[in-house]
Amino acid sequence: MKSIAVIGAQWGDEGKGKIVHLLSEKADVICRYQGGNNAGHTVVAGGKKYVFHLIPSGMLKEKKICIIGNGVVLNPYALKEEIEMLRGSGIEPRSRLFISNRVHLIMPYHIELDKAYEEALGIGTTKRGIGPAYSFKYARIGIRPCDLEEKSYLDSAITRALDEVNTILVKRFGRKPVKKSEIMSTVEEYRDIIGPYVEDTSKMLNRFIDEDKRIIYEGAQGVLLDVDFGSYPYVTSSSPISGGILTGLGIGPKSIGQTVGIVKAYSTRVGGGPFPTELKDKTGDLIRDRGDEYGASTGRPRRCGWFDVVSVRHVLMVSGIEKLAMTKFDVLDNIGTVKVCTGYRIDGKQTGNFPPNVDVLGRAEPVYEELEGWDKTSGIRDYEELPSSAKAYIRALEKILDTEIGILSTGPDEKDTIIKTKLAID
Ligand code: GDP
Ligand code: IMO
Ligand code: MG
Repeated sequence: MKSIAVIGAQWGDEGKGKIVHLLSEKADVICRYQGGNNAGHTVVAGGKKYVFHLIPSGMLKEKKICIIGNGVVLNPYALKEEIEMLRGSGIEPRSRLFISNRVHLIMPYHIELDKAYEEALGIGTTKRGIGPAYSFKYARIGIRPCDLEEKSYLDSAITRALDEVNTILVKRFGRKPVKKSEIMSTVEEYRDIIGPYVEDTSKMLNRFIDEDKRIIYEGAQGVLLDVDFGSYPYVTSSSPISGGILTGLGIGPKSIGQTVGIVKAYSTRVGGGPFPTELKDKTGDLIRDRGDEYGASTGRPRRCGWFDVVSVRHVLMVSGIEKLAMTKFDVLDNIGTVKVCTGYRIDGKQTGNFPPNVDVLGRAEPVYEELEGWDKTSGIRDYEELPSSAKAYIRALEKILDTEIGILSTGPDEKDTIIKTKLAID
């Protein structure tokens, strides 16, 4: 199968945008299968920076087909902004962007509910309505593009949704109710924005698979934010793990040729929740400054820490990751001794397991191994030119994770990359 999954193997922001953009050169089709505009995927190409939230990061490469699958939750206003951003750079997505007719639409009330719940729960969400949109999907009160043309169905679906919304907003949060007339006009605008792009993308993608096209499945967020396998409840509401690809696109289990996980040479996390290797000191600040670790969607400062083998091992297992790409080596240039967390000490006992309960994870103290740092990797594009201690860091992690690190990134630009492995789309 000439297809690869490219997924975040930490807490998001690993550099998926850069790597997907780069690998898109070898692909015909690039698909998003989960998440929404909580994602911010940065691509630096031709001296310009682009941030994708909904459109797959392959869109900058000419002629590539980009699919937004049914597993995504889509805010048409955010999509419109992204399309305008692309048009401003001379890129027309009209003939090669396709949106599933089954995707769930983020409605303004989902955003309002996200903000209200956020005040109560303090998860640190992006307040883009992601959690409520997925809750409504599973509660069977969601709205999809295929529902927009069925006037009587749409009318009763909106009534059902608003019954729920207004009960929560008024009774639980003491806020104003949402008016049906406002939602009806929003839906009109949604129809105009997404209309030209809506397709049965599952059918389309299955045809591409039959035709042996080269496909990239682009994950959003990261496996440690997965609703089942992340640090629940400090997670997103979708399935970034490779398992999410099948339900999020409507394709069979044999459609994924290879799974590539992206990690940074260290760790970051945005929002709340435990983070065992977090550095709340000058080294953490230095990494944030050098790595420009501020959210690509919300601008929030990212929490920074050392590489965590325990959590990444868990990620490799639950997602069947076969190869890793490691980004942001250059950020650790000249930082001195580099630490890697190889175990957790929890309640006095050492373990290599990633605990499922958030309070237990919160009590985990990292057990570190120290490795020699390096002076300069920034901009290096040839593996042999890397300093020997950087190579030793890569080899040590490959050994302990029992997984090849086949792609290395030494700067934000697409060109600052070393690909030393063969991929299923080659
Ligand atoms: P994504 O959500 O996984 O696509 O990652 P983000 O775009 O949110 O965050 C990654 C950030 O790191 C972006 O600003 C990228 O331009 C940048 N980046 C990616 N790879 C590298 C690298 O190897 N070195 C440096 N310095 N920056 C990188
Ligand atoms: P990309 O694709 C990093 C985090 C939020 C919050 C939690 C839940 O760019 O890697 P949500 O709004 O999804 O309900 O928030 O998930 N989060 C991300 N963190 N990168 C992302 O996306 C994220 N998308 C959501 O900060 O902690
Ligand atoms: Mg991001």
